[in-house]
Amino acid sequence: MAIISSKQPAADGEQPPRARKKNTPKPLATPEPAVLADGDSELLQAEIATSEEKLQEESLRPSSIQEYIGQKELKGVLDIAIQAAKVRGESLDHLLLYGPPGLGKTTMSLILATEMGVNCKITAAPALERPRDIVGILMGLQPGDILFIDEIHRLPRMTEEILYPAMEDFRLDITVGKGTTAKIRSIPLPKFTLVGATTKVGSLTAPLRDRFGLVQKLRFYEVDDLTLIVQRTAEILSMSVTTEGAAEVARRARGTPRIANRLLKRVRDYAQVKGHPVIDEPIASAAMEIYNVDPLGLDWVDRLLLTTMAEQFNGGPVGLEALAASTGEDSHTIEEVYEPYLLQIGYLQRTPRGRVVTMAARKHLGLKGGNDGGDQLSILG
Ligand SMILES: Nc1ncnc2c1ncn2[C@@H]1O[C@H](COP(=O)(O)OP(=O)(O)O)[C@@H](O)[C@H]1O
Ligand SMILES: [Mg+2]
Repeated sequence: MAIISSKQPAADGEQPPRARKKNTPKPLATPEPAVLADGDSELLQAEIATSEEKLQEESLRPSSIQEYIGQKELKGVLDIAIQAAKVRGESLDHLLLYGPPGLGKTTMSLILATEMGVNCKITAAPALERPRDIVGILMGLQPGDILFIDEIHRLPRMTEEILYPAMEDFRLDITVGKGTTAKIRSIPLPKFTLVGATTKVGSLTAPLRDRFGLVQKLRFYEVDDLTLIVQRTAEILSMSVTTEGAAEVARRARGTPRIANRLLKRVRDYAQVKGHPVIDEPIASAAMEIYNVDPLGLDWVDRLLLTTMAEQFNGGPVGLEALAASTGEDSHTIEEVYEPYLLQIGYLQRTPRGRVVTMAARKHLGLKGGNDGGDQLSILG
């Protein structure tokens, strides 16, 4: 139930006791994604976008389902949902999109709004700290609008509780007055669609997750699809790239469109300086060597993680915290940024007793021996 006092700022008075302090700390310890100055050290980290990149990304976003490359399953489900909603003249069901950063969650949300012919209001959980933040947004919605909430696993509890009746019954419950005279007033809201995006679906509370009619996972892209994405981006940026050149960039992009686009721009710089008007495979791979991106898109942190597991822990199993301590990397970063891709390409396995480095990883890094159980070949190799 949402409680907004008519006399006082919303943050005071109605907070549960444990959060009553004025300067309530952020509800979750996860740091805000940093916006970096341009630099190459984070070339392969999909969740970090430079401010320049954020602007450029807008021009690279596909604007219709047809233009959205790959993710067949997701597109199939949403295509049906869109058509059905249109036939019935209703808004779309609430939709939860989850998966690693840079795979196209925000893009898909904008496409849904375009396809449905409605507005998309974009916000992120960290911007909804006070109940009045979400109340203001909900009151401003037009019928059918899409409300996109990024990083939805980070919603403060109060905000989340306001969303429950809003999502379920399109109703805002507001408490007017204080103490014994307080009354709850319900304000009807227009029917809207909440699209939530998260990289950590496991961190969502069950009541919130249950209120999404559609829950869809975004997957890492195959090299073929990423190649198409690189070619599409090249065309928008008026660059000349051969199919092999595009594929070379795609192979190193960790299954992630955001990284593919970023690598392509670095390759363009290189080609320009070297006086090559056309980006072909040798130019692409020479550029990637300079930026220290290996043929599978691993950077030095990936290699450090795998080597540490292989050499210091005899291949594993090793616990996340032990691995973090030995490598000096943050355990959240390992889990959310590095591990998903290493799992995807079969270089790492998760067992009940911890992480295990696989034979395929050892081969790639030129390491010997070990007691790992996995011997998967890379799906990208
Ligand atoms: N399916 C796709 N086809 C083409 N480009 C894509 C696709 N998915 C993502 N992109 C590109 O990747 C970039 C990052 O996508 P975005 O939607 O911001 O990812 P997320 O919200 O999942 O972090 C966008 O600028 C877009 O140009
Ligand atoms: Mg996004």
